[in-house]
Amino acid sequence: MKITVLGSGGWGTALALLLLENGHTVTLWSYKEEESAALREKGENPVLPGVAIPKELTLTSDIACVKDSGLLVLAPPSFAVRSTAAQVKSYLAPSAVIVSVSKGVEKDTSLTLTEVIAQEVGEDHPIVALSGPSHAEEVGRGVPTVVVSASKDEKSAKLVQDVFMSRRFRVYTTDDVVGVELGAALKNVIALCAGISDGLGYGDNTKAALMTRGLTEMARLGEAMGGRKETFAGLAGLGDLIVTCTSMHSRNRRCGIAIGKGTPPEQAVKEMGMVVEGYYAAANAKALADKVGVEMPITQAACRVLYGGSSPREAMLELMTRERKQESEESWV
Ligand SMILES: NC(=O)c1ccc[n+]([C@@H]2O[C@H](COP(=O)([O-])OP(=O)(O)OC[C@H]3O[C@@H](n4cnc5c(N)ncnc54)[C@H](O)[C@@H]3O)[C@@H](O)[C@H]2O)c1
Repeated sequence: MKITVLGSGGWGTALALLLLENGHTVTLWSYKEEESAALREKGENPVLPGVAIPKELTLTSDIACVKDSGLLVLAPPSFAVRSTAAQVKSYLAPSAVIVSVSKGVEKDTSLTLTEVIAQEVGEDHPIVALSGPSHAEEVGRGVPTVVVSASKDEKSAKLVQDVFMSRRFRVYTTDDVVGVELGAALKNVIALCAGISDGLGYGDNTKAALMTRGLTEMARLGEAMGGRKETFAGLAGLGDLIVTCTSMHSRNRRCGIAIGKGTPPEQAVKEMGMVVEGYYAAANAKALADKVGVEMPITQAACRVLYGGSSPREAMLELMTRERKQESEESWV
């Protein structure tokens, strides 16, 4: 199959190499010609050191490359999903299927990324979200990885499963697109908090608590938005939460560690030099939670620290001293 991957960051590159290995004809599009030229010249992506880019992978910055592709993989940072989708629109083959692999919620509109893509390219093209615990660095070096392909259109979810699946990359399918996309976006906020906790020198107890209660509030928002609770216990929820909160590959966690150690949040984000999706997702999650009227105390505390000047220690104390609660709203009903 002819496939174009749009976005040559770590994730776009790792997926383009996987698809090439699976026998497809793959083009990797870069936002800037300099980026494409550097990949061509160095034969590797600086964020995936030691992972060779074979000459069979076509590298370009010409957007017309999407013309005859049956499948488009959109892998830019979330803030650039709308502009990238808008650029491809006039070149799209009528039957092309679009796969969104970015993680986030759009700033200002709080739309999920497949909703953003649908607004730009129209409702005729099937759209699939592919997500799960998957660091580019590890997919790049071929370690076994398992993800989920989500679409309202069963045929397209299964097509994406077929195209990406290999002995080292297993793909499940689901129709819960909202659950999968919110899981992907919201776990980055909790990963920032887990990093902050590590940076403060708190222990495993604190991090496990943030992850567990974080997952509860992620699922609460997800359900209110039409997703299923069980999706949050799956690969795109719990799976991605574990990988992001515990690994040093996670830039959200590393950024949180810097904040916990005293770097002002805005500076910590700048110093990462890569997109820190959780920093933006926190505000969007809070906006969504306020809109649908659900409680997200950890996300709200994250917002106070990230944008409101609260100290992380104060925010933690506020979380610890909230009014007494039952663990599950379903107890003693
Ligand atoms: N890295 C991972 O392990 C991983 C895994 C799963 C999902 N993701 C998601 O994939 C997305 C991309 O992440 P990444 O790690 O590849 O990012 P990255 O930081 O490695 O690279 C970002 C890429 O975006 C490009 N870019 C910058 N501005 C742009 C614009 N205005 N329009 C189009 N492209 C632009 C840059 O040129 C660069 O190639 C994010 O949403 C991320 O959450 C990443």
